[in-house]
Amino acid sequence: MESNLLGISFAGLSLENPTILASGILGYTAESLKRVAKGGAGAVVTKSIGASPRAGYPNPTVVQAEAGLLNAMGLPNPGIDVYSEEIKYAKTVLRVPLFVSVFGYSADEYASVASKAVEAGADAVELNVSCPHVKQTGAEIGQSPKFLSEVVEKTKAAVNKPLIVKLSPNVADITVLAQAAIEAGADALTAVNTLKAMAIDTETMMPILSNVKGGLSGPAIKPVALRCVFDIAEQFEVPIIGCGGITDWRDAVEFFLAGASAVEIGTAVADDDEVFRTICRGIETYLRKKHYGSVKEIVGLAHRK
Ligand code: SIN
Repeated sequence: MESNLLGISFAGLSLENPTILASGILGYTAESLKRVAKGGAGAVVTKSIGASPRAGYPNPTVVQAEAGLLNAMGLPNPGIDVYSEEIKYAKTVLRVPLFVSVFGYSADEYASVASKAVEAGADAVELNVSCPHVKQTGAEIGQSPKFLSEVVEKTKAAVNKPLIVKLSPNVADITVLAQAAIEAGADALTAVNTLKAMAIDTETMMPILSNVKGGLSGPAIKPVALRCVFDIAEQFEVPIIGCGGITDWRDAVEFFLAGASAVEIGTAVADDDEVFRTICRGIETYLRKKHYGSVKEIVGLAHRK
């Protein structure tokens, strides 16, 4: 029998492969999560869920940018009480770990939503402390070491599952926030959420997004995300999920070499449900060609002096 080169143990969870659906465009209903898992994802992350229902922003909420996607949906979600039923159903149809992305407007709210998500069956919680455009949550919390520590500490005390903190790239030094999250009890970090950005229509002479500003994802942000992962891995021994512009196996391998143990894929899924399987095949071929026995063996190799 062939050995599984791609299997990883991440923050106490076993993943068949290191590719994960990023929170965002898909991943709202159990059926769409199932479709992505069928496409080969090793785990899936839901869209961010808050304490109560939120409609999000009016259209336009998405703009195609030159090398990526600009979005400002405004964290639309049905609220954790309703979404708990979807989590319970998702657990009956998924064969891969389910991470629930959570946001709130205070440390207590983050902790309460996370605790309800775990009660409903989440295998891990990913804290969205990095949405770049919704007031009083997301990056407004995650850009402050003090607020971030409070949120992580309270949430950690409220859940008995791995706690992953998704960091913002819209900061001067991401390692300061990484340190705050780790010291407050984060089991792992995701680096990074979208870059704050905007687009203007030359005909109307107005910003295109109804919210004016949004978050840029896709290939345009890959070098920034990669640098963030490298910076964190250089200073801390925390498990990292690399996220930002991963569209093929080569991108994924770059993130492993920078220090990520797993990668999240978002924007590329919009074009291709099978992207996870294709990327996994490419990573596997690369590992065999380079004579490595597992993906773990190449994590952080770009740091050799
Ligand atoms: C959104 O719902 O607008 C995006 C959420 C995020 O960027 O974290």
